[in-house]
Amino acid sequence: FKIPSPKNEPGNTYAPGTKERASLKAELERQSNTVVEIPVIINGQNITTDKVKQVVMPHNHQHVLANYSEAGEKELRDAVEAAMAAKESWANMPWEHRAAIFLKAADLISGPYRDLINSATMLGQSKTAIQAEIDAAQELADFLRFGVDYANQVYQIQPDSMKNVWNRTDYRPLDGFVLAISPFNFTAIGGNLPSAPAMMGNVVVWKPASTAILANYYFMRILEEAGLPKGVINFVPSRGSQVSDIVLTDPRMSGFHFTGSTATFQTIWKTVGENIANYKSYPRLVGETGGKDFVFAHESAQADKVVAALVRGAFEYQGQKCSAASRAYIPASLWETVKDGVVEEVAKIKVGDVRDFRNFMGAVIDKPAFDSIANYIDYAKESEEAEIIAGGTYDDSVGYFIQPTIIVTTNPNFKTMTEEIFGPVLTIYVYENDNLEDTLDLVDTASMYALTGSIFAQDRQAIVHLENRLSGAAGNFYINDKPTGAMINQQPFGGSRGSGTNDKAGSVFNMIRWTTPRVIKENF
Ligand code: SER
Repeated sequence: FKIPSPKNEPGNTYAPGTKERASLKAELERQSNTVVEIPVIINGQNITTDKVKQVVMPHNHQHVLANYSEAGEKELRDAVEAAMAAKESWANMPWEHRAAIFLKAADLISGPYRDLINSATMLGQSKTAIQAEIDAAQELADFLRFGVDYANQVYQIQPDSMKNVWNRTDYRPLDGFVLAISPFNFTAIGGNLPSAPAMMGNVVVWKPASTAILANYYFMRILEEAGLPKGVINFVPSRGSQVSDIVLTDPRMSGFHFTGSTATFQTIWKTVGENIANYKSYPRLVGETGGKDFVFAHESAQADKVVAALVRGAFEYQGQKCSAASRAYIPASLWETVKDGVVEEVAKIKVGDVRDFRNFMGAVIDKPAFDSIANYIDYAKESEEAEIIAGGTYDDSVGYFIQPTIIVTTNPNFKTMTEEIFGPVLTIYVYENDNLEDTLDLVDTASMYALTGSIFAQDRQAIVHLENRLSGAAGNFYINDKPTGAMINQQPFGGSRGSGTNDKAGSVFNMIRWTTPRVIKENF
């Protein structure tokens, strides 16, 4: 089939006076005055359980947005059975009809439900309007439209045939069901993790993050409205340990699609390993995990560009993108200029309720995140090896607010320079210009991760050298740009080492993981 040629969804600015802004504000107001009841959804049925939990606004944690039912042991078992029961007819549905469901869902998201899913992302995950727009409206629609195109490309990879023979590849779905576990930080990732395997004909049990559940729930409803058959994706908010005991270890679990912490992915991998003899097939494990993403400036870099990248890269969405700039290496010759620039820019950043569109940052996601980030800041405050040159304060009396914080350290292996913080904290190490090679070793080895990284340089020889020297340090490598904001079909996303299996979300490589091909040879 020729699939409609996908284009990246254009974004709204929500500038003052625009009708888009008025419409989004009205929806924010409506959702702020509603308490949504979110069921478990198994086989298209809404199920309320006796374990009901609250969803609150991170920037106003006394405000309840929704109650959700948590799936228990029975519901998780039922979800697996529902998926398996839906498997045959879904796998046999002609590809263009499966594709049409996801293309329709993309049009619903970018059209009539744009405000709905953006508002839910703003209120539930504390994203500003712009951050919600690039995630829930644009990237989610892009994942679906380009995902269909990638699946279609896979189906067209076919072998050659000699005379009187026709060889062909039958791209079957995996021999069981797929388990998807999604994170809070991107509504788009929540949508993609169950959808990509489903596009390839798989059935899915989807455990969303409890802190992104409102937007994820609306996405599930949109899929249903677009015509997704019952049982193909089952929405089961639940506790990780139960999912592991019941779903992950089920012998029919044939694929696992994950974005989340490195520690969780490693635990899951171990559990799968311990159970390996029980599975019907070797499960495909696809995970995007942690990061400790760097910005490295060469002495030939333009200081103003470095400043802009550090501020946007480190503090947009409160530093909670897995791609966020978190450690920086600045040459002594540029340091005074870069320092003045970042201090001046950070002073302008407004932190607060995302319904006030003047705020550049909202709150961090929840209390455990707030406490963990605050601990890192306190650690730096108490250390003789570090100085805080911006921010350093936090307050969770109304929302989980942390000011954008910049730490300068004299120790390139300082704790905040090497560990993932997942918050608005940037640590900078100033290196001597003649110590370039040792500093590059540090960039490469200071953390266990290799997700994103940026280099800044004007000198072409330096760019070539840095690109080669840091070849293993990032799956997404930026030259003279911030390390965040990868776009579907422009920068397929993913890292290696401790950052994941590098199957590139939003790409043909990822789609291929959700199929177990059968090659057919027919003689005429
Ligand atoms: N794709 C996002 C980015 O590049 C991270 O998941 O920022």
